[in-house]
Formats: sequence, C-alpha cells, structure tokens
Amino acid sequence: MEYLASSDRYNNQCDYRRCGRSGLKLPVLSLGLWHNFGGVDTYETGRSMLHYAFDNGITHFDLANNYGPPPGSAEENFGSIFHKDFKSYRDELIISTKAGYLMWPGPYGEWGSRKYLLSSLDQSLKRMQLDYVDIFYSHRPDPNTPLEETMMALDQAVRSGKALYAGISNYPAEQTREAAGILRRLGTPCLIHQPKYSMFERWVEKELLNTVEKEGIGVIAFSPLAQGLLTDRYLNNIPEGSRASKSWGFLRPEQVAPALEKVKALNKIALQRGQTLAQMAIAWLLKDERITSVLIGASSVKQLSDNLQAQKNLYFDEGELRAIEGILTK
Ligand SMILES: NC(=O)c1ccc[n+]([C@@H]2O[C@H](COP(=O)([O-])OP(=O)(O)OC[C@H]3O[C@@H](n4cnc5c(N)ncnc54)[C@H](OP(=O)(O)O)[C@@H]3O)[C@@H](O)[C@H]2O)c1
Repeated sequence: MEYLASSDRYNNQCDYRRCGRSGLKLPVLSLGLWHNFGGVDTYETGRSMLHYAFDNGITHFDLANNYGPPPGSAEENFGSIFHKDFKSYRDELIISTKAGYLMWPGPYGEWGSRKYLLSSLDQSLKRMQLDYVDIFYSHRPDPNTPLEETMMALDQAVRSGKALYAGISNYPAEQTREAAGILRRLGTPCLIHQPKYSMFERWVEKELLNTVEKEGIGVIAFSPLAQGLLTDRYLNNIPEGSRASKSWGFLRPEQVAPALEKVKALNKIALQRGQTLAQMAIAWLLKDERITSVLIGASSVKQLSDNLQAQKNLYFDEGELRAIEGILTK
C-alpha cells in the first residue's frame, strides 16, 4: 500500500519549539524507536505508528545503533519503512541516531572513541540506507576516553556531512559544560542534550537544566512516561503484551507494584484535569519552556493519538503543582 502523507500535517496537531539557541525547531512530541520497532516486533504496527506520527506533525524520529532487539534491527526496519514511505519527505524529517553502548565485540564496539563513533555512524547510515542523519549523539559519557576525542568525532561527523548536528545524551552537568565548550571551539555547537526526565526521574532539575539553558543547548527528555509506569497501563494488572510483561527490554514486572500508589494518586489528579495520566505526565514536562521536546515511545497508534492530545493543556495551577509535588516526594 502506498503511503501519502496527510496534507493536514502542519495544521496545529503538533507545536514546535526552537532547540536551544539553534535554528532548528523540533516538535514538542518526538517518537523514539527504542522499543516496538525491532526484529521481535510487528513491522506493520511500527509502520502505521510512523505514518500516524508524521501525519500529525511529529517530524522527529529518534534511533540508536543498538535499538532492537536484536541490536541494529530498529535502524534496519526504519530504513526499510523510510524507503517505502518517507523518501520524498526526507527534508521534512529530523532523524537521529547515537553510539555509546555495546554494539559489536572487541575493544572498538562501545563507549566514546573516535574509532567507535565514526565506524558506528557509517554502520547506522548503511542500516537505514541514508546519506546522513540530522543529529548524531554521543550516547553516554566515557570515563576512559578524553572528552576532546569524543567531541572531535562528533565534529568530524558533522564536517563530513554524515550528520547535520551534534548531540550528547546522559552527560552530567559538569561534562555537558565541558563538552559544549569543546564543540563550540571546534565550530560545531552542541545542539541538544538527551537526558532521562520524567515525574519519577528528576535528576536534571538539580543542575543540568540550568547548564543547558546557559549554554544554549536544547533538551529532549527521554522515557517521559517512565517506560509506561506513568500511564494507565498498569493500574489494574500487568497486561499481556505490555513492556513489563515481555522477556526483553528494561521494565521488569517487579518495578510495577512499588510505583502503583503514586501512579494511582497521580491518575486522580490527571482525571480532575480532564487528561489521561500519560497526557498529564507529558504536559508536566512541557510546562518548562527549556524542554524542547518530549521523546515518547508507543506500541500503538492509539497511544500516540492519546499522547498528542497532551498539548491541549500544559497549564498547571499552584494547587495542582503542590498536590503533584506532594505525591512525588512522599
Ligand atoms: N538516550 C538514551 O539513553 C535513551 C534511553 C532510553 C530511551 N531513549 C529514547 O527515548 C524514547 C522513549 O523511551 P521510552 O519508550 O522508555 O518512553 P516512554 O514514553 O516513557 O514509554 C513508552 C511506553 O509507555 C507506554 N505508553 C505510551 N503511551 C501510552 C499511553 N498513552 N497509554 C498507555 N501506555 C502508554 C507504552 O508501553 P507498552 O509498550 O507497554 O504499550 C510505550 O511503549 C526511546 O524510544 C528512545 O528513542 C533514549
């Protein structure tokens, strides 16, 4: 079946925010392909989510070398779908990938060396059958490689035309400051930081958000729904087919029960606001203008459509904020 993007796709379904002090705008919701797009998943479900996302103004798809399982299969599937359906829309898309976690055996298959980063980028481009990605990330800081070397590799990726922008992920505030300084000196400013950030994971609030603001770097928050905990998915049980029910992935069934008391209390506030819990969890992040985009995952078009509606109400009154804070800090 041939895919033709909706002619309505830029008619306010999705807002856009400028990424730090760059010229690039990102949709407030971006779609990540960490789960649900691998070799173990149903190809057509992933394909329909990509269609739905783009039809509704979500112009940013986020990948990494190791997404799957098996590692690399999300990029392969994305490449296949891209070539079937999105080739003529390349200039309307922001496609990112990353290197940092284990991808191949031996001393050059992970972390932050120039050798690993640039080889990995070549492999990613091959798997996705792309000439370039829009954003190439160092996926995690490497304690054993000089930061200069990792940043020089990102700079090289951009200079070679294989990436348009450079990004960092999971870097603490101090290293973010240093990385930003090095990249600026090299002439390839750091576009974006991708940290984990949700109601349940707030480490960025301590220092990182101020740092990126000062440095003019955008922020894309990953796992904003705490992998599904901050939704109504687990209110009654661990449903068949949910992330926590699967043998692969990073949400274990034993993580569900300890979160439930807070999830139920938050769900009550969401309902009072006329939102689902997923929508409120996304809105709670987007209320801070420093957050350029919220990087969600989804396993169905229905979830995507639910999450897109979060933008309808990003406002929280003092009472709601206090009540939420009370639950989160209990
Ligand atoms: N840089 C990094 O180190 C890093 C690490 C992790 C992730 N990421 C990026 O962040 C992206 C998102 O991460 P994530 O998948 O953990 O994000 P998430 O948005 O916190 O969780 C997504 C999961 O939540 C559930 N969900 C989503 N919307 C829902 C709704 N409306 N109602 C009920 N359940 C809903 C689905 O679970 P079910 O599958 O159970 O339906 C979905 O798979 C990744 O794809 C990746 O691009 C980056």
